[in-house]
Amino acid sequence: MENKTNQLKDIDTMKEKINYPYVFDSIDVGEINLKNRIVFPAYHSNFSNADGSVSDKLIDFYNAIAKGGCALIFTGAIVVSSDSVAFDRVMRIDDDRYISGLSKLFSEIEKNGAVPAVQLIHYGRQALNAVTGHDLIAPSAIPCPLMSQFDPNYHVREMTLADIERVRNDFINATVRAADAGVKVVEIHAAHGYLLNEFLSPYSNYRKDDYGGSLENRIRLIVEILEGIRSKLGSKIAISVRVSGDEFVDGGLKPSDYKEIIPILEHAGMDMLDVSVGVYESAEKIIPAPDLGKEPFVDIAAELKQYATVPVCTVGSILSLSAAESIISSGKADLVAIGRAQVADYELVNKSLAGRENEIRQCTQCGKCISASTGDPEMYCIVNPSLKRPK
Ligand SMILES: Cc1cc2nc3c(=O)[nH]c(=O)nc-3n(C[C@H](O)[C@H](O)[C@H](O)COP(=O)(O)O)c2cc1C
Repeated sequence: MENKTNQLKDIDTMKEKINYPYVFDSIDVGEINLKNRIVFPAYHSNFSNADGSVSDKLIDFYNAIAKGGCALIFTGAIVVSSDSVAFDRVMRIDDDRYISGLSKLFSEIEKNGAVPAVQLIHYGRQALNAVTGHDLIAPSAIPCPLMSQFDPNYHVREMTLADIERVRNDFINATVRAADAGVKVVEIHAAHGYLLNEFLSPYSNYRKDDYGGSLENRIRLIVEILEGIRSKLGSKIAISVRVSGDEFVDGGLKPSDYKEIIPILEHAGMDMLDVSVGVYESAEKIIPAPDLGKEPFVDIAAELKQYATVPVCTVGSILSLSAAESIISSGKADLVAIGRAQVADYELVNKSLAGRENEIRQCTQCGKCISASTGDPEMYCIVNPSLKRPK
């Protein structure tokens, strides 16, 4: 009897899979197997405890996303260095004391059917020294055009070689802590104009030493981090790198630049390429405003995929599994990250799998989840009743 029930369940699952055969095809990232192609991207929520440790609210949030059916969840972004705590309640991993909370978070995500991942960040010049309580550091002492408007005392200084060595070790030590806590994939945040993006881009890196000038020099810190992680951890964890395929600023990185960049990252140990876009000066692209239309940046990911041998993830206003299916089936990307639409309805994947697309609560792209711009103490969602506005 039990056999018969299981057989019926298998047949049901097979039938359901026919709706989205590309989405529900498993894939390996490094040595980590993913059950389908849907990713939850890094999504800063301000749900941590005040000291940056994992809170019950954070665990509840990620558990709900995991139960909803996506394959890979990037928690974070999580801060690797104590001088870059850019928000009051940003997640932190700059000390061993964070390991136990993260261990609980990662094991809960795994119990609920998704692969736990974490995105590692240093905010570089895109922060406020009034909040971090430290000098902002960057490859070059060029203020962020956006953040410098918010504080007359905004100040950024050029990193010394000792700073570079410290930050490199911070990323590597953070990865070792994440691995100790049971993470399966780490993502190096080299997108959106944060520190590692600042090094990579001729737009923000004017250094004259071994870390500036040629591509070989601008990419050196990222390569050293990737190689450092590999030498400490082997292939125990997979490594994703998030890049801005187009920075959308004059003199910034363009998709064609990645023809040279991607082979270097792959050679240094990258297992997955996560293609986003933008820096703070082009912030309306990072979290695409609705007037940019649906799936505005898939073609950028598709161009970068031509230069890559590892799986490539695309992101940006992808709101349904049918959109994801057509992106993957057309060969433009291997993985699809869905952020806001999964926050609006944690069950987006499972409802689609079950043919209940008409029950999905639609994301209106209202921007209320972006607590950094609403001024609310943490993110909320106007369509998801379990993410009410904080009082
Ligand atoms: C509230 C919020 C927080 C975000 N936090 C991060 C982050 O910490 N790291 C990151 O790389 N991207 C972050 N993003 C960008 C998302 O990962 C994603 O690339 C973007 O929202 C576009 O995808 P979507 O249209 O599916 O939401 C954030 C986006 C939102 C809305």
